Amino acid sequence: MNLVKKAGGKAIDKTKKRIAKDLLSKKGVVFDNYAIFKIKKSLSEILEVSPNHFSLELPPFHIKTDLSVSLFELAKEKKVDPKNLAEELAIKINETKNNFFESAQALGPYLNINLKKQKTYPLLLKEIAKLKDKFGQSDVNKNNVVVIDYSGPNIAKPFGVGHLRSTIIGQALANIYEATGYCVVKDNHLGDWGTQFGKLIYAYKNWADKEKFKENPIEELNILYVRFHEEAKKNPSIEDEARKIFQQLELGDESLLKIWSKFEKISVSEFNKVYKKLGISFDTFLGESYFVGEAEKIIQEALDKKVAFEDPTTGAIAVELSGLPSFLLRKQDGSTLYITRDLATLKFRTKTFNPQETLYAVGEEQSLHFKQMFALAKTLGYADGNTAKHIGFGLMSIDGEKMSTRKGTLVLLEDLITQSIAKAKEILMSKNKDLSAEEVEEISEIVGMGAVIYNDLRQSRQKNISFDWKKMLDFEGGSAVYLQYTVARINSILKKLNNPRTVLGNIVFEKESEFALAKKMMFFPMIVLEARKNDSPHLVAVYLEELAQLFNHFYNEVSIIGTEDEVLRLARIALIKSTAIVIKNGLALLGVKIPEKI
Ligand code: ARG
Repeated sequence: MNLVKKAGGKAIDKTKKRIAKDLLSKKGVVFDNYAIFKIKKSLSEILEVSPNHFSLELPPFHIKTDLSVSLFELAKEKKVDPKNLAEELAIKINETKNNFFESAQALGPYLNINLKKQKTYPLLLKEIAKLKDKFGQSDVNKNNVVVIDYSGPNIAKPFGVGHLRSTIIGQALANIYEATGYCVVKDNHLGDWGTQFGKLIYAYKNWADKEKFKENPIEELNILYVRFHEEAKKNPSIEDEARKIFQQLELGDESLLKIWSKFEKISVSEFNKVYKKLGISFDTFLGESYFVGEAEKIIQEALDKKVAFEDPTTGAIAVELSGLPSFLLRKQDGSTLYITRDLATLKFRTKTFNPQETLYAVGEEQSLHFKQMFALAKTLGYADGNTAKHIGFGLMSIDGEKMSTRKGTLVLLEDLITQSIAKAKEILMSKNKDLSAEEVEEISEIVGMGAVIYNDLRQSRQKNISFDWKKMLDFEGGSAVYLQYTVARINSILKKLNNPRTVLGNIVFEKESEFALAKKMMFFPMIVLEARKNDSPHLVAVYLEELAQLFNHFYNEVSIIGTEDEVLRLARIALIKSTAIVIKNGLALLGVKIPEKI
């Protein structure tokens, strides 16, 4: 266990230093400089209402206006009729000389506003050209620290698709939080402790095939684990043996710890392969084992504070909090539980990293666990100033079948990824015959990985998600490859034009589809903030798909190469370059890469 502590210690120090530095020096992109904010600010000055008291919205397609503002909230605050307010404010806008607003009309409780397009959009395109891969980022939360707990696979078990969702969602949230100015601590709370290790060690000692173990340790451990449960049905006394082993392990038995640490090492190196494929890295790997000692102290504290009590018949330590089912902190046999260690972890995080928030990207099925844990943390003051949130998500199924270990439908992550890449390859080879074999390899890897990640993130996380290969690799829409393909098309147009430099002096547009595309891009920094606020990466995905649709609409309507007017052509080039940047930045937030061509 000391070994674990030492390894954790270094990473903890490094992370603490980074936080201190980040908080001191974080500059980031100033949100107030974005065109969208300038517009909002100008509107707030005319209306004499703080910009926090209303939101600018993109009206639905059938309403022919540039922006709309819902006045329900504001009217409620002012205790006036929203329709009257809309009329009053529309007059105000129309009468005030200003940079951005052409005209305003009241439509029921909404204020519909038309922009001075030629003034607004050049501002936006310059902004994108200047910020490039930083467009969309902001400094709004620059003084905040967030700990994100995600992935958390269990050692000595294969990395199943179950943990994939946590990994993908947690990583997207880490990117999104960071993009809005947060200092993010990415912690992998490995499942590396618990009674199952008693069982595993028992099985390993008694039945392990050393040759097979050397060859494929994870598979062998899995076989051993299954065998333990089968044997225990016939001979329940081995359950007691296993429990004793785990007890000894918790007490620090050297020889058992050695075996355990072998399992841990093997597993982590397996997991790292997956993380590498996904392009993910963590600050710390503070698994459950790291918190066993602290968990013991917590039990004592809960007893002292009379929050927990000893069951007179079993000797177990239980907690009962109002409105929640009671739960154990210590078992009858004296060992700690998942929740005890999780509580110790939360206490540690609050103390060590001083975050404003801690997020747990863990399946919805653990929602009671988190309710109980957060409630007890509150009672004991372990999360003061640190808002702990459970970011739950639904189950995953493949072609309609729920995945389960028992039924053997638990698809291994490796298999899933391999399958996705193979399918991407098939499609690529049939669609684009000009690609070299090397290009096909490289692109299908990016497209295949992107399909798996994006399929998860484009759906609201609370839903159960399914894998439908056809949809996941559909070039026509609703997939990562649709967005990747859109960027690839833009790249190829730019290449045909010899990668022109765009002079962003006077920008003119002509078509509605151009304005619509530019306006949509203007909203990107807001969307990132919204996705952060709602812990919903899918808002970014939905936005990107709408943006790509607007691009395709525009692209079908105009020929850039055929645009004779020099100024207009350059404006259009700037527009498509910007589109590629925004899609790229959005996909980067989701953890999806883009190939140069498809
Ligand atoms: N290892 C756990 C499991 O597989 C997930 C850990 C989630 N994180 C946490 N702090 N509980 O269920």
